[in-house]
Amino acid sequence: MARLPVLIDTDPGVDDAWALLMAFASPDHEVVGLTVTAGNVGLAHTVRNALRLCEVAGVDVPVFPGCADPLVFPAEDAAYVHGRDGFGDTGYLPPARKPEAEHAALAMVRLSHAHPGLLLVCLGPLTNLALALRLDPTLPARIGRLVVMGGAVTGQGNTSVSAEFNIAFDPEAAHVVFEAFPAYDLVDWEAVLRHGIPHADVERWLEAPGPKAAFYKAISRRTREWSEDRRGTHWHSADGLAMAAALAPDGATGWVRHALAVETGGRLARGATVVDWGGRSGRPARARILLGYDPGRFRALLAGALGVPTGSDPPA
Ligand code: BDR
Ligand code: CA
Repeated sequence: MARLPVLIDTDPGVDDAWALLMAFASPDHEVVGLTVTAGNVGLAHTVRNALRLCEVAGVDVPVFPGCADPLVFPAEDAAYVHGRDGFGDTGYLPPARKPEAEHAALAMVRLSHAHPGLLLVCLGPLTNLALALRLDPTLPARIGRLVVMGGAVTGQGNTSVSAEFNIAFDPEAAHVVFEAFPAYDLVDWEAVLRHGIPHADVERWLEAPGPKAAFYKAISRRTREWSEDRRGTHWHSADGLAMAAALAPDGATGWVRHALAVETGGRLARGATVVDWGGRSGRPARARILLGYDPGRFRALLAGALGVPTGSDPPA
């Protein structure tokens, strides 16, 4: 059977890196490009990280540099989580490969024509996609499914009290995207918190043979230490959960559809994703929000991406 084309917009990022390895490892999908944005760290780093990760994974996927800044207002990166270079400051070997000359937003539009029905997975701030939508408002008609990692659907954020990082980094872009797509799937931060993986299991998987686990072990070391210190016994793979829901939607155990709006002003809640739980707004219910995902399936996708042999991981 033909593999489903998938385009990934990303800001790697330790978290993104694992999700990208999941996509590269999927036998049912063909990654047709990585469009890269600033977010976790600056664009020069996120592009370089994407290129290096492709080399480590042994995949020949074009990398398109996109927006270096949010659409309107400057935002703070997450170097305190991912390291100054976004990949744990390990001083890894610079990539030999070069990025494409085409801008990420233009590549999105072009690839949507080349692969109508494309699966689009967004793992970072939505700046590139918002720009692509302004260039070509007909874009959603050629996207088979949009999956976004972002938001905090009851206002329990991770970057501010009420906002999640990807949306808070560029709320105007998120507004453009969520108003343009008639339907999209959302994997929010609060879902991520319900799907933690014990650090002990992650550490065992990182001993898998081969370059992917070794590389990921090195680049994630500081983030794992930070995470254990700040969030306790479990690792939270936000982009990984979104990628699981994107690649294997049958692993989802529940979704709910609601209208959603992004707070772009606000003194306390800029970047918050305001969900119309009670159906009061009369606005269309475009967001399909992930409620749960099969833990065994999630673990298998995560472990497999690192090269852990199938069946060798004890069940959750
Ligand atoms: C999101 O923010 C980033 O730090 C991660 O890569 C993920 O996409 C989680 O809020
Ligand atoms: Ca990300």
